[in-house]
Amino acid sequence: MDLILANRALVDHHAPPGGAGGPAPATGGLVEAVRPVLVPWDGAAGTTWIGAGRGPHDRAWTDDAGFELLETPAGPIRHQRLYLAEDDWRGHYAEVANGFFWPLLHLVRVDLPLKLAYYPTPEAPSDAAWSAYERVNRAFAGAALAASGEVCWVHDYQLALVPAMLREGGFRGRTGFFLHTPFPSLAVAESSLPPPARARFAAWLDGILGADLAGVQTEADADRLREAAERLCGARVEGPDLRLNGRLVRIAAFPAGIDADDLARQAPAGALPAAVPHDPALPLVVGLERADYTKGVPERLAAVSAAIAGGARFAYAGFSAPTRPGVPAYDALQAECERLASEASALAADRGLPFVQSREALAWSEVLALLREADVVFTASIADGMNLVPLQAVIAQSSRPAGERGVVLAGRDAGVSSAYAGFEDDGLVALDPLKPEASKRALLDALEGRPGRVSDRLVAAVRERDAHAWGRTFLGALDGA
Ligand code: F6P
Repeated sequence: MDLILANRALVDHHAPPGGAGGPAPATGGLVEAVRPVLVPWDGAAGTTWIGAGRGPHDRAWTDDAGFELLETPAGPIRHQRLYLAEDDWRGHYAEVANGFFWPLLHLVRVDLPLKLAYYPTPEAPSDAAWSAYERVNRAFAGAALAASGEVCWVHDYQLALVPAMLREGGFRGRTGFFLHTPFPSLAVAESSLPPPARARFAAWLDGILGADLAGVQTEADADRLREAAERLCGARVEGPDLRLNGRLVRIAAFPAGIDADDLARQAPAGALPAAVPHDPALPLVVGLERADYTKGVPERLAAVSAAIAGGARFAYAGFSAPTRPGVPAYDALQAECERLASEASALAADRGLPFVQSREALAWSEVLALLREADVVFTASIADGMNLVPLQAVIAQSSRPAGERGVVLAGRDAGVSSAYAGFEDDGLVALDPLKPEASKRALLDALEGRPGRVSDRLVAAVRERDAHAWGRTFLGALDGA
């Protein structure tokens, strides 16, 4: 039996059994990447997913230990929910995971809190919040030890202490850890890591190094992880790996992928959201993301305004899905997006150009239709683990004839840009969202189909490096670790 540990449950129940409305699937890159590797539960073997029970009606669906069998399109998945005290969840999730680690982990090249007024400074967690983070991680480790699988795959920064806790607890299987976010540069993050925060970061990394295999998205992330492990945890670099306390920890890059076959099947059918003005005479520029301050939404809006002001003619549709309600760091981003969207919208109206920028979660069929119909898919992450939207866009575009496809833009510090370096002429172009003139130029070029539209070569590469391949490669490496 294999265990998957992720902060979020696979789905949250928003209605009691028999009630109206199905469960809400978790959103985001983690679930998108991991879902295809789940093995249906046959009564004795398969995947057990362990996640926090945050749905308002979860308890009505589970037994006393939090277990339920979830019916999914891939078959039944054995699922365990951990019901955590509200105070612990707040300290763990709002303060430690999202107040400290999330902004910190994205500091790969630029000290973003210094550069961008809306980007929050990572807040060193209080002792109380750190204890909550430890308790939540211990609850996950305890559940995994009780389930005692052959392989335990722990996901993301919210659960970084679990691998070391499993080792201390005598877990008999292999433990893998995968970080879906970037790994930061110590030099860049220096000002966010005064002594107390630095000690927390070192403890976090020590936790990860309890795994047999620690995976990250890119080679650059792996290099930064090794350097931090040497400097903060006393590890020794041995080839690609790390030696720590007499043990070898495998370190490698596994760029995440998407379920390309599934997406290709669904992409041709969906219809555009009603709010998107359809003007066949104008190219359509699309922006899609979680409304997060790492996604470069203000920078994209500024580039769109600059292009319109310079005389470019296109329709624009941007949708940012609300995320992490109750985490205060998102308020400044929201205000900046509203300011820039109203400027761009006024400019577009003045030129008679359709423009919509909305903060809402679209239906999946609408997302696919936008990615398929766009002439330019304009993602602009300032830093990102992978950013799966550009890959989803490539597959959605593949349902159009090659000569009529669009161009996909991605931030240079998103994992996707290094994983697909060399595909610029094939329709996947990296841009620096922190350089306004270059971003505008990239948009204008993309509107002309330069340097190239989404090609069959790019489509084939995205299909080959899909989520199934990602899962197989990681689990194969863990097997050999
Ligand atoms: O790695 C980023 C991540 O934590 C993923 O788990 C997920 O893609 C996304 O952010 C959603 O985050 P949250 O669970 O905080 O809504």
